[in-house]
Amino acid sequence: MSNRYDRVRLELAAAPHTWLVTGVAGFIGSNLLEALLKLDQRVVGLDNFATGHRRNLDEVRSLVNAAQWQRFRFIEGDIRKLADCAAAVKQVDHVLHEAALGSVPRSVQDPIATHEVNISGFLNMLVAARDAQVKSFTYAASSSTYGDHPGLPKVEDRIGQPLSPYAVTKYANELYASVFARNYGLRTIGLRYFNVFGQRQDPDGAYAAVIPRWTAALINGDEVVINGDGETSRDFCFVDNAVQANLLAALADDASRDQVYNVAVGNRTTLNQLYGYLKAALADHGVALRDHRPVYGPNRPGDIRHSQANVDKAQRLLGYERRITLEQGLGVAMPWYVRFVADSTRFGDDARVLSAAVRAEGS
Ligand SMILES: NC(=O)c1ccc[n+]([C@@H]2O[C@H](COP(=O)([O-])OP(=O)(O)OC[C@H]3O[C@@H](n4cnc5c(N)ncnc54)[C@H](O)[C@@H]3O)[C@@H](O)[C@H]2O)c1
Repeated sequence: MSNRYDRVRLELAAAPHTWLVTGVAGFIGSNLLEALLKLDQRVVGLDNFATGHRRNLDEVRSLVNAAQWQRFRFIEGDIRKLADCAAAVKQVDHVLHEAALGSVPRSVQDPIATHEVNISGFLNMLVAARDAQVKSFTYAASSSTYGDHPGLPKVEDRIGQPLSPYAVTKYANELYASVFARNYGLRTIGLRYFNVFGQRQDPDGAYAAVIPRWTAALINGDEVVINGDGETSRDFCFVDNAVQANLLAALADDASRDQVYNVAVGNRTTLNQLYGYLKAALADHGVALRDHRPVYGPNRPGDIRHSQANVDKAQRLLGYERRITLEQGLGVAMPWYVRFVADSTRFGDDARVLSAAVRAEGS
């Protein structure tokens, strides 16, 4: 067997470790939880449901067997509280730190909230992990750290000025992690995710990411607004690639630590192209959209124009492989969204029936 990911998974399954996944009720966190439990690992999860959902944990429960679910312990807590972080990290081997307030527009709207979770919360997690002497600390960094640097594809050591409060927080994470590696020997790795997408990414709310937001809108026959001229581009990365990078990073050798790595596919897709791919992928699942046309709106403040990763470093030092392309990932994610939107509609109907019954009783 030649590739490192297969070897790491075999190693883990043969000798399980204890993991802390922060942000476990969120999109990437719940996908990490699912992958780890399926490898028979012991997992502690920390989340305060700020943007995550119990339904994500319920779904993971339905996807693993009873013995695997028994190996999961959930702590409802807040990374802004050091005591919560310390409780969660007790007797843990590896930390996968995902908890944060994502979204560039949210950070432009409320920079203090983003700062408190993404920087003060991050620092709490570093301190707790240092004190618990964990074996590794892998954290969610971000492609937003490239800021206004014009180079394409993005290479880890060439960054520009941050363009949003969110980008500042994610860069501050890298600086703090590096200082903790130097001063305390904490074994850190930062993963600069580039537009991760897949099942359980939340389509609801003002700060939803583009793929789930547009997918839900298309299924519901609602308007899809493209910010700018649609030629803005992104390197869309299916969530399994991000899961792979986390497991490889946690078990990386010392020479590959105290570093940051791009996690992406290495392709660039414009928003106009993405809109076409989503329509095609949904058509494969019986959602007919021939007459649907997007609406063009203004550019969003804080957004980067183009984003595309060079993933050579992760391939060389972590053994990362770009396994799943955008189209393949959409093929996996679309049935989930079709089901999710159908369920939401059904539950919405139930809720309406219930409130009608309550009204009837009161009248
Ligand atoms: N999804 C992407 O494309 C992307 C890209 C770059 C970086 N990231 C980073 O990856 C990580 C995971 O992102 P995601 O897309 O899964 O987002 P998400 O919002 O689905 O998950 C974040 C989770 O963190 C939890 N959380 C927030 N504040 C918390 C707090 N104070 N205490 C405890 N838990 C808290 C939320 O409830 C949520 O479950 C984040 O750090 C994000 O910044 C994501």
